[in-house]
Order: sequence, then C-alpha cells, then structure tokens
Amino acid sequence: MIGRKIVYKDTLDSTNNYIANLSSKGEIKHGDVILAGKQTAGKGQREAKWDSEPYKNLILSIFLDHVNLSVTHHFYLTQAVSLALIDFLKNYGSDFKIKWPNDIVHNASKIAGILIETQIENGISDHYHIRNSIVGIGININQENFNEYNATSLKLITQKEYQLQDLLFKLIETLNFRINQLETLQFKTLNKEYLSDLWLYEQESRYQSKGIEFVGKIIGVDENGKLLILEKESNKILSFENKELLFLERFTHNY
Ligand code: BTN
Repeated sequence: MIGRKIVYKDTLDSTNNYIANLSSKGEIKHGDVILAGKQTAGKGQREAKWDSEPYKNLILSIFLDHVNLSVTHHFYLTQAVSLALIDFLKNYGSDFKIKWPNDIVHNASKIAGILIETQIENGISDHYHIRNSIVGIGININQENFNEYNATSLKLITQKEYQLQDLLFKLIETLNFRINQLETLQFKTLNKEYLSDLWLYEQESRYQSKGIEFVGKIIGVDENGKLLILEKESNKILSFENKELLFLERFTHNY
C-alpha cells in the first residue's frame, strides 16, 4: 500500500534523490512517500530542471519496492501513474489529458510531470525485473505565475485555492487504485484507459522528428512504450522514443 508512511521535509534537493539515498542505505519501505515544501534541484525528464514555487504545489516521490514487473512491462508503470494523476485531477475539473509519455496537460498547458527512476535486477532465466522504482510527481496546484512556460495549475483552471494536505490524501487514493491494477497485472485495462486519456489520440496533428515535419495520427503505444503514429502522406506506421519526437500542435515544451 502507498502512503502508510508520509514524511514531510521543508527543503530537499530533490525528493527523488532523497529516496535514492535512503534506498541505498536500506532505510525506506515499499509505499513510503516523501513530500517537500520546496526543492533546490528538482529534476525533470531529459535532464531538465523542475522549477516549482515554494509551498504552492505538490512535490513528492514514492518508493515502490518489489514491483514484480519485468522490464518489458515497465511502460505499464508509466501508464498507471499517469492515470492516477488524471483520476486525481478529474475530482477538480475536466479536460485533463496525458501527453505521451507521461506529461499531464490541460488544454495543451502542462499541469503535472512524472519522473520515474528504476533499478533493474537480473531475475530467473535472464529475465530482467524492476527491483524498485522511485516515482517522482510534481503537480501545479496554487502557483499562478509560470513566466515564459506554457504551464497551468489547478488554481488557474478553477479559480480556487487548495489545501495541499487534503489533495495529497486524494492523490494517494488514486495512486493506490492504479498501482493495484498494475500489481494485479491488469495491463489491458491500463493500456485501454491510457489511450482514451491520451492527448491527440486518433486526431490529425503535426509532429517533427529528426528535423522533418509531418502530419499523422497517434494510433497507440507498443509494449515498450514507443508512440505509434500513422503518417498521413506515406500511410505508414512510425514509432518513436521519448527523445525523438516533437509535438508541434498547440503545445510549447516547458523545458
Ligand atoms: C517532467 O515533467 O519533466 C518530470 C517532472 C517531475 C518533477 C517531480 S517533483 C518531485 C520529484 N522530485 C524531482 O526532483 N522531480 C520529481
């Protein structure tokens, strides 16, 4: 279960790093949550920084031990966490979507980000297993100013101020629900619901990869989490890794 133990720290470099350090000393258990008021070196995907105004947003990491997931199934963890964030946000508004692989957007502005860091172990007959995972989550809640970033927050969307602690408990509920789906191997359900909440799924849109622009429709993700796009001109299915693709439609990266 997630959230049996929740530790709040006023300031950390990064909640993910803090857990990694505790984990290397064997001082953290499955489901433990570390929450911070602010981070001095918050980490985003692709070696980017994650900036968040102090005390305004949810900044946390969760330790998942013995996830019992083979490495080939690792993308289901991404799907489960993304869906937990969508379930959580749907309590407060609508039109939240997952921007592949795991950004959460509202009308094309980013409201939350996920950074999953895993340790792999070699299991039975050379099947690699995820030993443990650090799931870092940043959700913009009460922050109103994002400078040049194309980002938003619950407050900007709903015009309300929120108590972070109340929200945390709601988030832990949705995380427990989705991680349970993962642990009980409900991969088909996770994939189906992930696609139904995926931004631009089955919609024609513009993309860029390796400097070349094209038009296509997202038609799914493969079992490794690669995005599958049906390119309009060639009518061919192209597949992309996280770093290989730029969304050109109605979205500017905020890193
Ligand atoms: C991204 O969208 O680039 C991922 C952002 C993840 C940010 C969270 S905040 C809590 C946790 N600690 C970190 O250093 N990063 C994650």
